[in-house]
Amino acid sequence: MRGRRVIVTSGPTIEPIDPVRFLSNRSSGRQGHAIAAAFAALGADVTLVSGPVAIPDPESVTTIHVETALEMLEAVTAALPADVFVGVAAVADWRPAEAAAQKLKGEKAAMASLTLTENPDILKTVAKLDQGRPALVIGFAAETHDVERHAREKLARKGCDWIVANDVSGDAMGGADNAAMLIGPDRAERWPRAPKAEIARRLAEAADLALARS
Ligand code: C5P
Repeated sequence: MRGRRVIVTSGPTIEPIDPVRFLSNRSSGRQGHAIAAAFAALGADVTLVSGPVAIPDPESVTTIHVETALEMLEAVTAALPADVFVGVAAVADWRPAEAAAQKLKGEKAAMASLTLTENPDILKTVAKLDQGRPALVIGFAAETHDVERHAREKLARKGCDWIVANDVSGDAMGGADNAAMLIGPDRAERWPRAPKAEIARRLAEAADLALARS
């Protein structure tokens, strides 16, 4: 991967309701950070765009810290061009239409009528770029059942090249291990339960091979 540029998103995004409250998704950032480290270990020039997480920045990786989905999209766009984009972040699909500048009082009314607006889909935006689309765009899918079918639907919907489908029916969320499937138009590889660093290494090696062949 020497001379190749890779962008990885990781962690959750947080979407402010007011200065003390936010909407978010559950994500430790462990898998995304491990993927950034695995590409760096193969010699790639890696930019990691991470939402707030409790784990350290990986070594040998440029880490950009963001909070919201809009900030994440902006940081990803600024980091382009790249050969590979891996969207691992658990991006909040919705954000409060307006973040209050001061802590909301009379919360009942404010919370009961919280208006949400849709966030951009970062993976889809990158996958559908007319100019400067990375050669390999990889998304993640957390599924609890019918993993392969849902992953194939997501592949088509997002316009990406591969989907790594996580089986989160166990304790993958926040845990140290992951079981996954790598799904592409003409591939379906089952990766048995393994440490997240091992899943990351497999993905980086598969990407390296695919780029070398293209
Ligand atoms: O549609 P869903 O959220 O299940 O798709 C998950 C994949 O899409 C992940 O790769 C995630 O990083 C990416 N995603 C994104 N921006 C969003 C929502 C999801 O990049 N707003």
